[in-house]
Amino acid sequence: MKLSLFRSASGVSAVDVYCTHAGCVVTPEGPELVCKCHFSYFDSATGARKSGPAPTGLPIFATSEIDGEIYILSS
Ligand code: FES
Repeated sequence: MKLSLFRSASGVSAVDVYCTHAGCVVTPEGPELVCKCHFSYFDSATGARKSGPAPTGLPIFATSEIDGEIYILSS
């Protein structure tokens, strides 16, 4: 499993980096995660699908930050 971590005002998001269309790895591009295989776009903070052929958003995992360390809490 590979996760992309994104820090926002509400905390740290951990989003699965494998595109829900055909499994390519997404890459950060500003506030979005982009799959360059067939150009699906996702929200970095929520994993929500914004556009493109991906059928759903990216799975997101709850996190907790304690003393500068980030813990993934659930699947
Ligand atoms: S594999 Fe990501 S859009 Fe097709």
